[in-house]
Amino acid sequence: MTKICCIGAGYVGGPTMAMIAKKCPQVQVTVVDINEARIAAWQTDDLPIYEPGLLDVVKEARGRNLFFSTDVDQGIKDADIVFVSVNTPTKTFGEGAGCASDLQYWELCARRIKEVSTSDKIIVEKSTLPVRTAEAMERVLHAGDNPVHFEVLSNPEFLAEGTAIEDLECPDRVLIGGHQTESGQKALQALVDIYATWIPRERILTTNVWSSELSKLTANAFLAQRVSSINAISALCESTEADVADVAHAIGTDSRIGSKFLKASIGFGGSCFKKDILNLVYLCETYGLTEPANYWRSVVTMNEYQEARFVTTMLHSMFNTIANKRIAVLGFAFKADTGDTRESPAIKVCRKLASEHASIVVSDPKAMDNAKLEMPELADDIEFQEDVYKACDGAHAVAVLTDWKQYKDLDFQRIYDSMQKPAFIFDGRNMLDHDALYKMGFEVYSIGKGRKTHLK
Ligand code: NAD
Ligand code: UDX
Repeated sequence: MTKICCIGAGYVGGPTMAMIAKKCPQVQVTVVDINEARIAAWQTDDLPIYEPGLLDVVKEARGRNLFFSTDVDQGIKDADIVFVSVNTPTKTFGEGAGCASDLQYWELCARRIKEVSTSDKIIVEKSTLPVRTAEAMERVLHAGDNPVHFEVLSNPEFLAEGTAIEDLECPDRVLIGGHQTESGQKALQALVDIYATWIPRERILTTNVWSSELSKLTANAFLAQRVSSINAISALCESTEADVADVAHAIGTDSRIGSKFLKASIGFGGSCFKKDILNLVYLCETYGLTEPANYWRSVVTMNEYQEARFVTTMLHSMFNTIANKRIAVLGFAFKADTGDTRESPAIKVCRKLASEHASIVVSDPKAMDNAKLEMPELADDIEFQEDVYKACDGAHAVAVLTDWKQYKDLDFQRIYDSMQKPAFIFDGRNMLDHDALYKMGFEVYSIGKGRKTHLK
């Protein structure tokens, strides 16, 4: 029986390993983490992350061939294949602060693997890492006298939160990078065989390690660049009476452009896009590639502009003062169907609203606990209200920041009736029926579309 250990029981390690365990009953999968609370939660039905369909997958395999443990050393020791899926946040200190990837957690894992291993192992980079990290890892793993052989593969994860289970069950592709040596190709084949249990072979792409590492950063950079591109156009639409949804549709029907990832918004959030682009920027700078670095940095700059512009629009449309005005923020997660609030645009929006002395009330169906932790400095000033109608009661404005489907079905007449007049609504996701809201009496503002106002 092949034994897999995955170090890191987070948004990637947990769902990815649960899917492998579900699809490959002949493989024993143990997910280990130093975070005791997280491991304990994975052993209950109250999982540490919210992801549609995840609990069913976990329940099918847990206790059969899927295990969660805090015994990192034992997990590594027993395994033939060790996935490393720890966090790789942006460095906050020293050289490259605010841009480079903080590799301390990855390196700690490599040292631990070297320390406790008594048999040969395949080490799989599941975390998103700078290109050529595998080289550094190999040096750590093979430093000094060590009879054990480690073969490092790159196998970046492309799942998106909120659709992780679909993405894992039926991915566009799985990417595996291995060295062009005999042992490298043997290791690569072992991992291909695992995925091939449920993924058509033609969707399993194999490359060298460096191409695989760089492809992950590039994929996220391209996706984020599309969002920034349409958001740049949304600003122009607001000045010219063009409608960004029409423009997105018109360009998206060109098969060379494609229709996905062209939804104008308050900006992209999530733990990956900004971090991975900045990592790419840092890599370009490290290799002396100033223009490519500046090109990719502009994607993040555009995103920051879009987040800031949203609050500026709120302020200007509400007569240049929002001090002491009650503003109901609907949605705090960085996108729908997740409780994750990492790098959510809602954080920046709330901070800017707070700097204008607005009275903020936040509501979200799944992200309330995380939202409370995101802004400790504002914890006493922000009201958290699960009930959307109570959040909107007496509000001067409603701002929709997350594309939760249920927001479409709210009783907006009831909300309008309970609000101060004029009642403003700012749709940061372009998901509501703006004509209907306008007819009810709302002052309607959205992204990249003309405002609908009753005010003279
Ligand atoms: P996460 O923070 O949710 O999980 C990482 C886990 O690793 C944490 O639980 C932490 O306690 C654990 N950990 C850290 N150091 C450890 C150590 N030395 N020993 C044992 N456990 C340790 O992070 P995540 O969102 O799962 O992301 C993991 C990696 O996957 C990152 O590199 C990220 O860029 C990448 N990624 C994330 C996503 C996503 O949607 N979140 C998608 C694709 C790729
Ligand atoms: C992303 C990548 O999609 C995934 O492949 C990678 O593995 C991890 O990073 P994720 O961050 O979970 O996934 O969500 P994603 O669906 O990519 O959305 C990212 C952000 O962009 C969200 O804030 C979303 O609301 C925003 N977005 C997305 C838009 O504003 N407009 C769009 O058209 C698409």
